[in-house]
Amino acid sequence: MSTVLQAHELTRHYSVSRGLFKPAATVQALNGVSFSLQAGRTLAVVGESGCGKSTLARALTLIEEPSAGSLQIAGREVAGASKAERKQLRRDVQMVFQNPYASLNPRQKVGDQLAEPLLINTDLSRAERRERVQAMMQQVGLRPEHYQRYPHMFSGGQRQRIALARAMMLQPKVLVADEPTSALDVSIQAQVLNLFMDLQEEFDTGYVFISHNLAVVRHVADDVLVMYLGRPVEMGASESLYSRPLHPYTRALLSATPAIHPDADKPRMKISGELPNPLNPPSGCAFHKRCPHADERCRAERPELRLIDARQVACHHVERIVD
Ligand SMILES: Nc1ncnc2c1ncn2[C@@H]1O[C@H](COP(=O)(O)OP(=O)(O)OP(=O)(O)O)[C@@H](O)[C@H]1O
Ligand SMILES: [Mg+2]
Repeated sequence: MSTVLQAHELTRHYSVSRGLFKPAATVQALNGVSFSLQAGRTLAVVGESGCGKSTLARALTLIEEPSAGSLQIAGREVAGASKAERKQLRRDVQMVFQNPYASLNPRQKVGDQLAEPLLINTDLSRAERRERVQAMMQQVGLRPEHYQRYPHMFSGGQRQRIALARAMMLQPKVLVADEPTSALDVSIQAQVLNLFMDLQEEFDTGYVFISHNLAVVRHVADDVLVMYLGRPVEMGASESLYSRPLHPYTRALLSATPAIHPDADKPRMKISGELPNPLNPPSGCAFHKRCPHADERCRAERPELRLIDARQVACHHVERIVD
């Protein structure tokens, strides 16, 4: 298996103005995220709104520079890459957004939009490009006559199929999908998720699949990274994480997801309160104010990730709270 993506302590801070006479403040949107992704595998990134998922997505797809940390795509270091190398790296990692309108041009025919990456990056003839586009359209469930249509003539689910087809035209090593099904009807979500899986199998692409919803990623994820306030709190193999979550935050998230709550008789664990303000993160463990198990140590000392049962967990008290 080949490693297609390797992130080491990726960090992104934003400087935000607080008004004319106050010094700028720093939002620690992403704070030291490390993982590696293999070809053909899916890493799901989950966590509440504002925990830094899209910030991570922008760093992984070279839309934004990280403030610190490093990133390798298909074994090549991003920092210090030449202009030509960056162009190749950008080809290797593609992105699908929650709203496909963000990546589709409303004034260009769908077929031409799918052909565009081939036009820019390959020497294929017009006829060859058209052939490739038709093949991809068929693969994502579009009909040949759709080539001539414009994005607004499609349903939301079809538009996401088009966005996915466009992202896959150059057979990238990595696809980063940021909430790709969140805007779709529940009845359509499963079909689109299946399409993601089919294309992954076909092209052996590594996926980073971002969602706030643990139920959505369950069927696609090989590994899961749970984030809280810009930091990973738990990461490990999907199956074991779902059947035996270790971090109190993961346990609360799962417990609050009715579709996958393992034993429905047990009382639901609620996550009380809101995500703290990242401009002013709590001391110690960022989750302590909402955690039923927090004590003095959690308020004072930030837990580092440590390995427990082949899982990485950032909690002082895992041994005490998990049976
Ligand atoms: N350009 C920016 N300038 C300042 N702060 C930002 C910027 N982008 C994101 N943030 C802040 O960084 C934090 C993480 O934002 P991000 O969009 O990554 O969260 P998210 O997990 O994708 O949330 P959602 O589930 O709502 O999409 C938030 O507090 C957000 O307000
Ligand atoms: Mg987001």
